[in-house]
Amino acid sequence: MIFAAVLAGGVGSRMKIADMPKQFLPLGDKPILIHTLEKFLLCERFDKIYIGVHQNWVLHTQDLVKKYISQPERIEIVKGGADRNSTIFNIVADIENKYGEDENNIIVTHDSVRPYVSIRVIEENIDAAIKYGATDTVIGATDTIITSQDGEYISTVPERRFMYQGQTPQSFKISLLKNLYNQLSDDEKALLTDACKICVVGGVKVKLVQGEVSNMKITTIEDYRVAQAMVGGLK
Ligand code: CTP
Repeated sequence: MIFAAVLAGGVGSRMKIADMPKQFLPLGDKPILIHTLEKFLLCERFDKIYIGVHQNWVLHTQDLVKKYISQPERIEIVKGGADRNSTIFNIVADIENKYGEDENNIIVTHDSVRPYVSIRVIEENIDAAIKYGATDTVIGATDTIITSQDGEYISTVPERRFMYQGQTPQSFKISLLKNLYNQLSDDEKALLTDACKICVVGGVKVKLVQGEVSNMKITTIEDYRVAQAMVGGLK
């Protein structure tokens, strides 16, 4: 089976403008989260589309699904966790409770605050996860990437042609991701906040899927303004 996991368990602390997490802010005529869900609903290959949402916002999310989504039976809402990976694994637990464990089950995880993900990117994630087991969506870095250990001085200037920016979806065979995660200590879990990094550290190859600049993440108020400017112009 193939599952989507739309991650909406965060509180958007870097946005600092609203009394609600950023995924619920309006973009055009509907909330950001609904735009993101609509992209996943367009893909018929998903058996269920999960939303992992902060526990204080479960009722609000249920109301939004009722109001905006024409196929609510394709959606499941579960409580998010303390960090992003915990939200993913709350969703995995619900999948395994309801549908059982199968080593071929796929999960396509996506930030709820990337509403402009394309169907092409979603489809390629599914195909690559089936074929390779783990995938990350990336775009080649256009700026030179600088590393700095202390935030004061340059440590290294890596060659740009080897540098990428990570986006989402990140997609996995559930059994593979779960086995790797379960082997981590609590300290390692706190450090490895990126699901693909769990695979890399565990020695599993992660296949790259070509992302898109428009698949931006809304993190700050500036990003939100850009997303608002894009809402009428992108299909
Ligand atoms: N996320 C989640 N569960 C958490 C934390 C984050 O599902 N416990 C989700 C967010 O809702 C978001 C995505 O992961 O869709 C990317 O995280 P980020 O942009 O960092 O969102 P927030 O954690 O909400 O933002 P901030 O770090 O500014 O508080």
